[in-house]
Amino acid sequence: MKAAVYTRYGSPEVVRTTEVDKPEPSESEVLVKVEATTVNRTDCGYRAAKPLILRFFTGLRRPRPRRRVLGTEFAGEVEAVGSGVTSFKVGDRVFGYIEGPFGAHAEYLTTREDASVATMPANSTFEEAAASTEGSHYALANIRAARISSGQTVLVNGGTGAIGSAAVQLLKSLGAHVTVVCSTEHVALVERLGADRVIDYRAADFTTDDETYDVVFDAAGKSSFSRCERLLKKKGIYLSTELGPFPQNPILALITPLFGGKKVLFPIPKHDQEMVKYIKGLVESGAFKPVIDRRYPLDEIAEAYRYVETGQKIGNVVIDVAGRADQPR
Ligand SMILES: NC(=O)c1ccc[n+]([C@@H]2O[C@H](COP(=O)([O-])OP(=O)(O)OC[C@H]3O[C@@H](n4cnc5c(N)ncnc54)[C@H](OP(=O)(O)O)[C@@H]3O)[C@@H](O)[C@H]2O)c1
Repeated sequence: MKAAVYTRYGSPEVVRTTEVDKPEPSESEVLVKVEATTVNRTDCGYRAAKPLILRFFTGLRRPRPRRRVLGTEFAGEVEAVGSGVTSFKVGDRVFGYIEGPFGAHAEYLTTREDASVATMPANSTFEEAAASTEGSHYALANIRAARISSGQTVLVNGGTGAIGSAAVQLLKSLGAHVTVVCSTEHVALVERLGADRVIDYRAADFTTDDETYDVVFDAAGKSSFSRCERLLKKKGIYLSTELGPFPQNPILALITPLFGGKKVLFPIPKHDQEMVKYIKGLVESGAFKPVIDRRYPLDEIAEAYRYVETGQKIGNVVIDVAGRADQPR
């Protein structure tokens, strides 16, 4: 089968499309024919081994042989099931998230039936399903850690990225009042996603805003707790998708909760089947629809990486593996 393989860490050029052995499902696994996947910031991080700590998961000097095909999000069709599999059958259309084992940048992948996989939302195309789990699971991890509920006020910095565009929709589904920071070009987009108020960062510095919030969620990872502290209510929470330049956010998340006032949280995102089923429910109810920016064939995956690394993608970048990613389910 065809797969995008990398044998050393580095820039997008380290990834090349080549023939590799088709995987075989074990007793508890399903074999999925991949229709669509994405290139996201998580793939970029592992491919470049940035931050360095990622090497502990994929190989210290170079990617381990079993970790040489990246790709965390997928949608496709079950082609075979292991003898012990009971929850999926051949022909099921499935989607999911496989950070850790990876392998979605290929024509086929295997995943355990109890992993982060579910049947596709009834109203999704393959590309929509494939783009539904990375940004949303990082958004969900932060939203759940901060226990955000109906009526709370949240400021989302960077409401147009994969995580930000998911966060805005997930927060609205919970009934939060959401203020979104983005550039002038994307004001209409974030309004469509449900923003109650928009701050154009080209016209104003959001950290000087007069409002205060229960939560400031920096989905773009461009600010700091010290710059945002004045925006927080008395027991307000600061969330960020980045470690911070020093890198201070995980350390602040250990220290600030000890004082009982404004605090930083830096949750370790969890992905499991419940998460994928929760996202499926939101997609089917119309509360969440992933934003899709560009599409590339698998052979042009290095180009997709280059675009994602501009830091200017809108939502998600899809890899159309089999040439029918935009077809309805
Ligand atoms: N914690 C983790 O393990 C983890 C995993 C994945 C990603 N991340 C990090 O999380 C961040 C977001 O990831 P993502 O995939 O959602 O990002 P992304 O899709 O690459 O974000 C791109 C968006 O960021 C916006 N943006 C750029 N500069 C901005 C600024 N100064 N202020 C506000 N918005 C700005 C751009 O929109 P505008 O043109 O409107 O500015 C663009 O639409 C990244 O820094 C990524 O490295 C962390």
